[in-house]
Amino acid sequence: MSPFHLTRTLPEDATDAALRTDVLTGLTGSPRTLPPKWFYDAHGSDLFEEITELPEYYPTRAERDILIARSGEIAAAAGARTLVELGSGSSEKTRHLLDAMSGLHTYVPVDVSESALTQAGQALAAERPGLHVHALIADFTAALTLPETPGPRLVAFLGGTIGNLVPAERATFLKAVRALMAPGDTLLLGTDLVKDPSVLVAAYDDTAGVTAAFNKNVLAVVNRELGADFDPDAFDHVALWDAENEWIEMRLRARTAQTVKVPAVGLAVDFAEGEELRTEVSAKFRKDGVSRELAAAGLDLTHWWTDGEGRFALSLSSARPAD
Ligand code: AVJ
Repeated sequence: MSPFHLTRTLPEDATDAALRTDVLTGLTGSPRTLPPKWFYDAHGSDLFEEITELPEYYPTRAERDILIARSGEIAAAAGARTLVELGSGSSEKTRHLLDAMSGLHTYVPVDVSESALTQAGQALAAERPGLHVHALIADFTAALTLPETPGPRLVAFLGGTIGNLVPAERATFLKAVRALMAPGDTLLLGTDLVKDPSVLVAAYDDTAGVTAAFNKNVLAVVNRELGADFDPDAFDHVALWDAENEWIEMRLRARTAQTVKVPAVGLAVDFAEGEELRTEVSAKFRKDGVSRELAAAGLDLTHWWTDGEGRFALSLSSARPAD
């Protein structure tokens, strides 16, 4: 059994405070919004796992195909002794990468979910004698302090989750990631790619209705955590392609005029009939844009791999020495 450490950098009540702030800001703003990170309670995480198996939802399979085909090349190019994974979740796809990284000393999975980290981290430490696993309970969109581990580091941010940030947030996030890195450290970034809008919309509006249930689950989270009285059946799931911004938006549309109370933050929110609440932006990328956004953060794109159908990309970029 190899060493397994768990460090909490989030105060126990940080999540609750952040949810209140997000709900207060998001439900009083115009248009109304809720950030997608609140989808992922235990039920929402199960629904997301189900989404990844839907015939319409290709990103997970496409990314896994790339990792299976390219982990050797990725490992060789990075030459890392520490792998840091932001938003590691179940660490399922990462296994391909871990298998290929022969000189790896430490794996640092970072996630907000303590249960996911403990499960995945302990299993990995048990399976891989000699591998140090140092799990971090942290919100990767906030400031991070990494444990002192041997370099070079490979930082992985998979799944296309960077698409959940709007461009200004991505710029801030990528600069913060660059600040964690030393010159020569590398970033492996998963990005879903622009494609036929009908394929994209279907991926976020599946016929089985799993994505609709996932979308409405955020209302159940707000009900449970903040005592709100959202009626999930009073909202319709909406997925649309914003061609100008090149992103998918998920929304919840009020079927009738209604007032929703959120006692924990002292809110009563009026929804007009047909009024929409934006719950997720999922941006789709092109190589030029990814390269430009990385460069602006001090990261130089060195490799670009896509699946056979060109649906999804993994990029590797290298931390540019500061001048
Ligand atoms: C896990 C954030 C990449 O944006 O495609 C799946 C989440 N939302 N179906 C995505 C999601 C609706 C997913 N990410």
